[in-house]
Amino acid sequence: MSAPNTFYITTPIYYVNDVPHIGHAYTTVAADVLARYWRLRGRDVFFLTGLDEHGQKVQQAAAKAGIDPQAHCDKLAPQFQELWKRLSISNDAFIRTTDAPHKSVVQRYLQQLYDNKLIYKADYTGWYCTFDERFWTEKDVENGLCPDCKRPVEKLSEHNYFFKMGQYQDRLIEHIKQHPTFIRPESRRNEVLGFLSTQKLGDLSISRPKSRLSWGIELPFDKDYVTYVWFDALVNYVSALEYLPKKPAFDQFWPANVHLVGKDILTTHAVYWSTMLMALNLPLPETIFAHGWWTVDGEKMSKSRGNVVDPNKMVDEFGADAFRYFLLREVPFGQDGDFSQDAMVIRINSDLANGIGNLLSRTLTMIEKYCDGKTPKRNQHLDEVDNALENQVHEVFNAIHDELCGLQFHRALDLIWSTIHLTDEYIEDKKPWGLAKDPANRVLLEGVLYNVAETLRHIGILLYPFMPQTAKSITEQLGLSIDFTTPLLSQELSWGKMTPGSKIHKGLPLFPRIEPKPQGAKTVSDTPTPSQPTAATPAPTTATPQVLTPTAAPPAPAAPAQITIDEFMKIQLKTAKVLTAERVPKSEKLLKLQVSLGEGTEPRQIVAGIGKKYEPESLIGKTIIIVANLKPAKLMGIESQGMVLAAGDSEVRGLATILEEVDPGTKVK
Ligand code: MSP
Repeated sequence: MSAPNTFYITTPIYYVNDVPHIGHAYTTVAADVLARYWRLRGRDVFFLTGLDEHGQKVQQAAAKAGIDPQAHCDKLAPQFQELWKRLSISNDAFIRTTDAPHKSVVQRYLQQLYDNKLIYKADYTGWYCTFDERFWTEKDVENGLCPDCKRPVEKLSEHNYFFKMGQYQDRLIEHIKQHPTFIRPESRRNEVLGFLSTQKLGDLSISRPKSRLSWGIELPFDKDYVTYVWFDALVNYVSALEYLPKKPAFDQFWPANVHLVGKDILTTHAVYWSTMLMALNLPLPETIFAHGWWTVDGEKMSKSRGNVVDPNKMVDEFGADAFRYFLLREVPFGQDGDFSQDAMVIRINSDLANGIGNLLSRTLTMIEKYCDGKTPKRNQHLDEVDNALENQVHEVFNAIHDELCGLQFHRALDLIWSTIHLTDEYIEDKKPWGLAKDPANRVLLEGVLYNVAETLRHIGILLYPFMPQTAKSITEQLGLSIDFTTPLLSQELSWGKMTPGSKIHKGLPLFPRIEPKPQGAKTVSDTPTPSQPTAATPAPTTATPQVLTPTAAPPAPAAPAQITIDEFMKIQLKTAKVLTAERVPKSEKLLKLQVSLGEGTEPRQIVAGIGKKYEPESLIGKTIIIVANLKPAKLMGIESQGMVLAAGDSEVRGLATILEEVDPGTKVK
């Protein structure tokens, strides 16, 4: 039996017949949220994901690519591993079924079942579906099509080895009845029970003749056969425990707490895997949870339709956390859902930019303005409204736990967002800007801002399993240094941990608003557009000269290439106030400026080639326009953290400024 303080979570192991898509990302992100959550609660977590590298699908994909199956797997495996890194997946191990120790475990189990007469050889004639790699009986097949994938089946007759699955039918029914959370959600449990109670469970063909399929694990008792890919794949959940943790951890982690799977592979898990475990005298997992499928813009996702959602592109465009949030917030886990880029932009703007992003930014702005950028003092005298906010945080803390035990991610997120809304209402109710007008209200003002900051600290921690980078950014901006690898949620939630007087660090917006694409613009799946800079995921920037004025005469003008609005939006233009200006020694042209991008931001140093046109003193106090997201570069050994906009070509004619008085740091577009 697994130790009580452990948590073992698995994803399906993915076929390496193609690159990863949204379906793979979905299960893996969901598993990651649970792994992170249980670590925060102090459990010893083992989170396993990996690849299913044998079988017909992989053999066919390799043949199509004209390479050996192992080389094909080796080529594709890093694409999964890289994606998991980009999506902040915190898996403890990554199994590949071509790992030699995995193959030995599969062979050991096959031998054990064969020795115990639970595997036997027999002739078999049936309808074979190449896609699903399985036989169907006469009554299963309708109009010559596979009842599962609806592809044509062919009649095949061959010797095969069979696992005596049928003999476990009653025991399995009983197990499902006795363990209400064994198959989840309930609707799926009822489906499996319904099927098992009305149909006779047959034996399972677990071999494939090498003449038909060579890419698999050889049967230890017959060299002419390899094992059926599912018998190999399902064993990964236990073989991994023998060789992937630092020390063998079978007793510690088995049985698994949760096997996360898609609805299409529930039968293989609930029936094949469960009966295999019974035959091997191993305990069954605690829960097999089957989630729904994503369609894309209302259509089935498929390569032939060209609408496969590439998670890498989602990360490029929206950032990992926004994508993670969308996947788990948009659709109740267990149900089917529809993915569209429009829905994603709506969620990002309403929940992330306007919701958590705005709450953090307005809170920090007020702390900067009214409290000198330092955490305010707690007010010991609380009224009903203050108490309601603190109580909400306590209630949500407990309620999220219940929701995550039931894998209801969207409801857990909903609870966090109801706290965000309540905090916004609290601010509107308390009106700190009104309190700030009268010094007699100082204690009240600080108390209100303290409560908001404290609520944000909790929101940051509760968000961590879902959006790890955002959680770090929220708490860092609050001036906290939190170690998220410690069991932060293992004790009762404690209100009042913020230290008055400590500096906050207001940073970039968590989630800049995304302007809806103009009509006719291409969609994410076909246009690789770069990400917007966010605090959590900085945008890629390129080193560029720091002034717009080339030193040499330009060549004959070529027709300028047109750029899309998205490309333009990559450039962050902002107003900036010149604080100081001086000449760079030994340079006629270069001036060194210190500019401000608004209260609470560190001054920036910019080296600009405008020294022939301007005396440094004449620039002090001027509001100019700068490119704010240029990667820093050195000019004559001096770091420049941006670029000044100026008119002129080989010669600077004038600086770009703003007619009206606007605050430094205002966006220019
Ligand atoms: N190799 C097997 C699993 C073996 S587990 C011991 C397999 N691999 S798969 O790569 O084809 O599928 C992996 C997962 O992706 C499945 O859980 C499947 O449900 C999921 N999805 C595939 N397309 C999907 C969507 N469109 N939406 C959501 N998940 C989907 O099956």
